[in-house]
Amino acid sequence: MKETKTKETESCRDSNVAMDLDKALSIDDLRAIARKRVPRFVFDYVDGGAEDEVTLHSNRRSFESLRFQPRTLVDVSQRNLGTTILGTPSALPVIAGPMGLLGLSWRHGDLEMARAAEAAGVPYALSTVSMHSMEDIARVAGGRLWFQCYVFRERAVSEALIRRAATAGYETLIITSDFPVAGKRERDLRSGLMPARNFTLRTKFDILMHPRWLMTVATQRPRFVNVERELDPGRDAASFLPLNMFDPALDWDDFRRFRDLWKGKLLLKGVLRADDAVRAVDCGADGVVLSNHGGRQLDGAISGMDVLPHVRNRRPRLDHRGWGRAARQPYRQGSGVRRGSSHPGPRPQLRTVRGRRRRGHARAGHFAG
Ligand SMILES: Cc1cc2nc3c(=O)[nH]c(=O)nc-3n(C[C@H](O)[C@H](O)[C@H](O)COP(=O)(O)O)c2cc1C
Repeated sequence: MKETKTKETESCRDSNVAMDLDKALSIDDLRAIARKRVPRFVFDYVDGGAEDEVTLHSNRRSFESLRFQPRTLVDVSQRNLGTTILGTPSALPVIAGPMGLLGLSWRHGDLEMARAAEAAGVPYALSTVSMHSMEDIARVAGGRLWFQCYVFRERAVSEALIRRAATAGYETLIITSDFPVAGKRERDLRSGLMPARNFTLRTKFDILMHPRWLMTVATQRPRFVNVERELDPGRDAASFLPLNMFDPALDWDDFRRFRDLWKGKLLLKGVLRADDAVRAVDCGADGVVLSNHGGRQLDGAISGMDVLPHVRNRRPRLDHRGWGRAARQPYRQGSGVRRGSSHPGPRPQLRTVRGRRRRGHARAGHFAG
């Protein structure tokens, strides 16, 4: 049963913000609105990448370097963006990607995003580090819910989360693999958000300059509710996560164990090589997300867009292994999408009528709420 929208959420979208959002013509407009609406440390957490942000910017440039070559004199009066994602119809070739700490940008951000994805008829991948529990999201929002799992050093915690996601009815599990060590996000280090929310004076002052954010969003203290439930009394998620979040020992054996544990569809997120895509399928993946974590982890990493043609070239081999039968387009491009025209691959003119590649949006969700 669905609950009605909370009063708090309504109040967060006061008329000025709603007016601004209504006027936004693009994700870049939403970004500009977000820059004013939230304190600088929140904006930087969402907008920033690792080190020199080379990968962050090249994700976008990869799209910009592609050009449409439309067929002319084609009857396009009947257009349909609907597609199939992992065997189930979707209104758009889009997935609302996993975003940690969405509740820092918008009050009840995870819930609102789940509802928005449901309204748009697309899947929503809830992050391990969401500020609403996976059970609450499943109870309040309908639609297609996926669960993204970080693999903690204490594997028992990740395994417990995966079992809970199955019980709560999540359809697809995403294992994120590009977190062996912490990306050096210099904007977060400068604001004091990382490593331990030790804000600088400048950040504190800037927070005070955003009273609307303080009165609405900030009243919801960031809590990692999914993880909290799995910890023994006396251990809190804020101290568990820094020690457990990054595991350099994560390997294919772990991935195979997750395959055994999870009976639904399984995706591996963080793949940037065609041979790894093949290996993921060999280990039982139903698909891969070609992603460099939005340029937030290994600076200098190739963009998912640039890997895509190499993965496509492996299609015959991949089909041979049964991948193609399970999901006709088993790869998702996961970084740098900023417009509907961000088209993931050559021959987009064909793709508009059949075989659309699926795209993951993440930052846009933080900006737009
Ligand atoms: C603020 C923020 C939080 C994110 N949190 C997660 C997360 O919890 N789990 C995950 O697998 N990916 C996470 N990502 C990565 C996104 O799912 C996605 O791969 C990436 O943002 C795509 O790049 P784009 O936002 O430039 O399109 C996060 C990205 C951002 C910007």
